[in-house]
Amino acid sequence: MINEINPDVYISTEDIAARTKEIGNAITKEFRGEEVVVLCVLKGAFIFCSDLLREINLPTKLEFISLSSYGANTESSGNVIMEMDVTSNLEGKNVIIVEDIVDTGLTMKFLLGLLEQKKPKTLKVASLLHKTSRTQVPITVDYLGFEIEDKFVIGYGLDYAGRYRELPYIGVLNAGN
Ligand code: PRP
Repeated sequence: MINEINPDVYISTEDIAARTKEIGNAITKEFRGEEVVVLCVLKGAFIFCSDLLREINLPTKLEFISLSSYGANTESSGNVIMEMDVTSNLEGKNVIIVEDIVDTGLTMKFLLGLLEQKKPKTLKVASLLHKTSRTQVPITVDYLGFEIEDKFVIGYGLDYAGRYRELPYIGVLNAGN
């Protein structure tokens, strides 16, 4: 049976919006006068990316890449699979990877390796969340929303077994959910 209890709020809609605006402003300042390619890592980053894109006051191109490692588990398998590649040439471009969360870092390490082969001019990482206590591979997050504790977070794009992506805030998965 599907339990309809709303998960507890961990990071509010308002706090996410305020931080996203700050990150957008920082990117706008850093790349003033240039074009950036905003690369949304599907599926989890789709909501953060769409909000962040609208806070960047620069000419932008939007690209998608689809990676998966968790499947239906709450732990990363460490086995990252590319389900869909970008469709345009990234050579010489200012690429900003947009993720919902960097957890173990395994997905980002895989992605950085993949994208470096495409010879971008610059390659930056924006992530709404960073769970630093779970780091297996250290990742420099150039534009970070929030460093978080080791909790299983859901909502605002993040799922548990495909559910909860639609929550407008970051919540915590409790036993009752
Ligand atoms: C999540 C998230 C990151 C990755 C981070 O993706 O969107 O891509 O896990 O974990 P890591 O740092 O431990 O590698 P997931 O595989 O759950 O796919 P999804 O984005 O489609 O939900």
